[in-house]
Amino acid sequence: MTARIDSAQNIKDSNTQFITSKFSIYNQDCTEGLKALSNNSIDCIITDPPYFIDGMGSEWNDTNLKTKASKSGVIGGLPVGMKFDKAQGERLQEFMNPLANEFYRILKPGGFCIVFSQARLYHRMAMSLDLAGFEIRDMLAWKYEGQAKAFSQTHFIKKDKNLTQAQKESLIKELEGYKTPQLKPQIEPMVMAQKPKEGTFVQNWQKHKLGLINTKESLDGRFPSNVMGVSKHTRKNESNIKIEHLTPKPVCLISHLVRLFTQEEQIVLDPFMGSGSHGIAALNNHRFFIGYEIEKKYFEIAKKRIEQEVL
Ligand SMILES: C[S@@+](CC[C@H](N)C(=O)[O-])C[C@H]1O[C@@H](n2cnc3c(N)ncnc32)[C@H](O)[C@@H]1O
Repeated sequence: MTARIDSAQNIKDSNTQFITSKFSIYNQDCTEGLKALSNNSIDCIITDPPYFIDGMGSEWNDTNLKTKASKSGVIGGLPVGMKFDKAQGERLQEFMNPLANEFYRILKPGGFCIVFSQARLYHRMAMSLDLAGFEIRDMLAWKYEGQAKAFSQTHFIKKDKNLTQAQKESLIKELEGYKTPQLKPQIEPMVMAQKPKEGTFVQNWQKHKLGLINTKESLDGRFPSNVMGVSKHTRKNESNIKIEHLTPKPVCLISHLVRLFTQEEQIVLDPFMGSGSHGIAALNNHRFFIGYEIEKKYFEIAKKRIEQEVL
């Protein structure tokens, strides 16, 4: 089997999979699902794995997250995404190392593997892909509006029983404007990794139509940059369906990546499909798509969006 999509002539719809001649999506753990894909069968991977911060790990569970983050946007006493724990990076790398080996196995030579990460844990993601044999070509950044999240210490100083009132007042004055070490987050990094090509760029292109990027593709009319400015608000106009997912990516951002790194009729894979934005981007750009999502609820959202939003 080159890839499941080739053998799927008719629509196959069941509780756990939806397969047509253009796409195959599975409600399945990708660590299992990817095993069914052949070596060198996928043209490009564009994916957004669990962040491994604040419970958004491999055990990413919609109900848990909702309970934790619900109305307040607070997890464990801190706003979402701000709990500092060194073990989070170690867990991410442990999770990603075997997956990166799988990504390497199934990608064609010269194929690109674009993986979103979180600024604090990007190095772990890049290391997993590097160790698997990929060439780390660049760090790309999705640039968005951002929202300042740093904390003042006033509240903690006021509550400190070891300080006199005078000491508290003096310390609060001294620390005016000083906050926890968090600049306003305005980028989400992506690792731009490439499976080593066969021969020269031209030889690899002749064999696989992969390895070079399409610099005619642009978000702003200029030469494509490694900083990609796309407003988070674009998401609101991109879907008529309520997307009940914490982290949907803008379809126009993923479309840009699809057009930069692949040709029409090539196969784009997203092992962590979430609400299906990568599938919509691939299919609306006339690429084939394979996706996996472990959570039933998100799989159903992705399925509905792909059915309704693919032109
Ligand atoms: C960051 S989100 C992806 C969001 C997606 N880019 C979108 O636009 O909606 C990561 C997704 O991976 C899913 N996930 C976590 N572990 C998984 C696994 N082992 N196999 C498949 N999906 C998994 C989570 O349920 C979550 O929906």
